[in-house]
Amino acid sequence: MKTEFDKISGVRGELKLPGDKSISHRAVMFACMARGSSEIENLSDSEDVKSTVNCFKQLGCTFSENKGKLIINGKGYKNFSEPQSALDAGNSGTTARLLTGILSAQNFKTKIIGDESLSRRPMGRIIEPLRKMGAKITASSNNTLPLEISPTENLNAIEYELPVPSAQVKSAVLLAGLHLDTETKVIETVPSRNHTENLLNLKVNKVGNKTVIFSSAENYPEPKKYFVPSDISSAAFFIVLTLLSEKGELKLKNILLNETRSGILEILVKMGGQITVENIRGSNKEKYGDIVVKSGKLRNIEIPKEIIPNIIDEIPVLSLAGLFAEGAFKIRNCKELRFKESDRIKALCENYKKLGVNVNEFDDGFELNGIASKSKPIFDSFGDHRIAMTFAVASMLLDDGGAVENFECVKISNPDFINQLRKVVT
Ligand code: S3P
Repeated sequence: MKTEFDKISGVRGELKLPGDKSISHRAVMFACMARGSSEIENLSDSEDVKSTVNCFKQLGCTFSENKGKLIINGKGYKNFSEPQSALDAGNSGTTARLLTGILSAQNFKTKIIGDESLSRRPMGRIIEPLRKMGAKITASSNNTLPLEISPTENLNAIEYELPVPSAQVKSAVLLAGLHLDTETKVIETVPSRNHTENLLNLKVNKVGNKTVIFSSAENYPEPKKYFVPSDISSAAFFIVLTLLSEKGELKLKNILLNETRSGILEILVKMGGQITVENIRGSNKEKYGDIVVKSGKLRNIEIPKEIIPNIIDEIPVLSLAGLFAEGAFKIRNCKELRFKESDRIKALCENYKKLGVNVNEFDDGFELNGIASKSKPIFDSFGDHRIAMTFAVASMLLDDGGAVENFECVKISNPDFINQLRKVVT
């Protein structure tokens, strides 16, 4: 479906966005692993999190709602029921990869499938360490879905240094480790998002520039109450729209401020963005607060290599801020973008060319220079929610507006995006 967006004159008011997707996946998984009743407040309403919920329904967990909160009846240690058919992770890499870690320790065989995009994404990165632990996993010839996971008598703790900074790989290994008495250790040199560590209260040691994370059966989750702060990755689209609009002032409530996720705020502030944070609180070691954004001029800065994993999901919309900022926007060291829901480097470059931008594509990044606004461009979402929302924001800033093909994929992370926009744009 092609969706059209007109130029806006401003952004104003206040928004409360649904819960963070990464934390929501984990809260559902840990509640399902625990034996008994857990409660989740402000769960993400995304299709991705629905995929996680559906997989755990097939594993015997039951779900109900009470006053807007999700109540989960979890099964307990190695007590899931054998599913009657393949578990469908849909479009969700987090579902497929974290679930593989959990299923590696169960006493029955399972199969994980996914949609076309997920079936193209690399799974070797989780298969390799899980096999080192003794997991029995088979994949298609190029290490993609479907995966088949068989029971093993010999699951062992390992010490594993991450070859790519990936919270999904880190979590898959740590979650398998929850089923072992001996400590599994995961070592990272570049920090990736740490929600698994926070929600399971795992031991974390800093040794020089390395972080070592430990998991064992001692950390196996118990039932509890989760509050999910609002999604900073969804908020990023509203933040950039407000910054770049002619008259913008917007408050976003209860936004996740975890330091492994808030790099987008740091960079936008360094670019001159008027962003302030107030009313900071916390829940389950996850910090959150209200963000106030005002429109103003931005200028491009050099983006340091170490911050890339922290802003990986926000690079599409950050590049748009960079396009409208003073000077050229350039980003390198982000080859991981090629392995997301689409090849995001290609998807961004193709769409920017439709805007008449001078684009320089690298294997691990891209550079943008100048904007020769074309009349009403039609952008392509490439079936990728973050590309769709980036070019919806772009369209709203162009004199004649623009349109995005296959816009419905926004449901993957934020199904209510259009209604949220209607509340605040003028
Ligand atoms: C996620 C980790 C990141 C991120 C993804 C969500 C998570 O992926 O891009 O959207 O919830 O653990 P990688 O682990 O592949 O970097």
